[in-house]
Amino acid sequence: MLQSTLIEAAQAGAAEILRYFHGEFRIDNKEGVNNLVTEADHASEKAILAVIRSAYPDHMILAEESGSTDRTDEFKWIVDPIDGTVNFAHGIPLNAVSIGIEKNGELIMGVVYNPHLKELFFAEKGKGAFLNDRRIQVSSETNAAKACLVTGFPYVYIDQPNGPLDVFARFVKKGVPVRRIGSAAIDLCWVAAGRFDGFYEHKLEPWDSAAGALMVTEAGGTITNHQGEAFTIYEHPVLASNGHIHDQLVGVLNNTHQL
Ligand code: IPD
Ligand code: CA
Ligand code: CA
Repeated sequence: MLQSTLIEAAQAGAAEILRYFHGEFRIDNKEGVNNLVTEADHASEKAILAVIRSAYPDHMILAEESGSTDRTDEFKWIVDPIDGTVNFAHGIPLNAVSIGIEKNGELIMGVVYNPHLKELFFAEKGKGAFLNDRRIQVSSETNAAKACLVTGFPYVYIDQPNGPLDVFARFVKKGVPVRRIGSAAIDLCWVAAGRFDGFYEHKLEPWDSAAGALMVTEAGGTITNHQGEAFTIYEHPVLASNGHIHDQLVGVLNNTHQL
């Protein structure tokens, strides 16, 4: 029931994404010059929340565009109606609905659905991660210098030691491919699927990472903060990998390991 509602909610949001994608839509700004929100973000969120509320009126919801409900329930739905809004606004088909579910503070289920590529990623705690019903697993690369990585940059630049550009330069100067897809949820799912060996970002929000984090661990990967410590969606820095190269990546992020 939880799973079918989760998937139904993701499909309802995705239908709105597709409805607006080829048409006209209003674009507004949030904090930072290019931090956009479109009519489609609101429409997708409204459709997702309607599905969740009709099935589980007492469950808590934390949604990017409308905030948090004040209900206290053991279940909490964490919703990003479009992850990759800048891509969406530019007609780039790399964006997705991302919804994670926590039970008593632990992530138990997640879905990331990119309707343009028809890729639906689903994970359930203890039961694995799946892409369109086929089980996925992380890659087997053991050398960070040979890895294919992905990252993202915040809308407001973080100017600090080991900030996004410092770390990016360290990898790129060693010839390591570091992609920039523009959707953290997709980045995490693509680590889970073994397409990327690792992903890091400095400033994510709970809705960016909730579903993708479970996808990575259920696919056999590792997710932590930049110090290699226990991950929580309520702190900004994220490092996800196939597990094998995780310590090396922690070292590069903190400038204590040379590639
Ligand atoms: C953004 C995307 C992007 C990441 C940003 C996020 P949004 O989410 O996940 O890849 O670099 O940090 O804010 O704004 O498209 O939902
Ligand atoms: Ca997001
Ligand atoms: Ca979003």
